[in-house]
Amino acid sequence: MADEEGAEGGPDWPPGEGAVRAIRLADERPALIRPLRPEDDRFYPAFASAVTEEDHWMRFLTVGGGFRPEQVRRLTHFDREDARAYIALDPAEAEMLGVSRIHRVDGREGEFAVIVRSDLKGLGLGHALMEEVLLGAKALRLASVWGLVLRENWMMLALCREFGMVAERGDDPTLVTVRLTFP
Ligand SMILES: CC(C)(COP(=O)(O)OP(=O)(O)OC[C@H]1O[C@@H](n2cnc3c(N)ncnc32)[C@H](O)[C@@H]1OP(=O)(O)O)[C@@H](O)C(=O)NCCC(=O)NCCS
Repeated sequence: MADEEGAEGGPDWPPGEGAVRAIRLADERPALIRPLRPEDDRFYPAFASAVTEEDHWMRFLTVGGGFRPEQVRRLTHFDREDARAYIALDPAEAEMLGVSRIHRVDGREGEFAVIVRSDLKGLGLGHALMEEVLLGAKALRLASVWGLVLRENWMMLALCREFGMVAERGDDPTLVTVRLTFP
């Protein structure tokens, strides 16, 4: 897991939200995580080119890789009443390292997703981004969260187990729904 180094307040956010969290990855690389802003859409083209087709498939369950402009717009322009997203960046805020999100699906349930730049997998960034997602879920007052994960995606399934999520199998034998219900 990444080590946390400190935090400072972010502008224009309610107390307790919008903080910038400084972390250090397992390879000692410093990074920061903060709420995603609409203008962060500029980071997506470079990020997309650093995500393998396989990782894109595991996140979006669609083939082709890349992020279409309308998709980037949807991912970066959302209503904070119903969604939260968190971006990981290098300390100079020049490169996007990963992103996580949670959006309300049905009243008090939310769907989450996370993706880390392919060359940075296994360094604790996914774990840190998932911590933010769970805080976001609480800010949205969700009672439970779930995510759709390919059965072969052992890293995501391991990560979800660490957060106490329960895996449920549905009709599609290639997919697992991982779920966490808050006490
Ligand atoms: C799945 C994903 C988000 C995980 O993020 P990550 O930064 O690679 O994962 P982490 O380094 O935080 O590791 C998560 C867990 O996987 C396991 N793990 C990671 N690397 C491991 C390794 N080399 N050996 C054994 N277990 C390992 C550990 O249980 C780890 O938990 P830890 O926090 O105790 O170390 C990332 O790999 C990714 O973007 N994959 C492609 C997209 C995707 O699958 N998204 C999920 C769809 S919802």
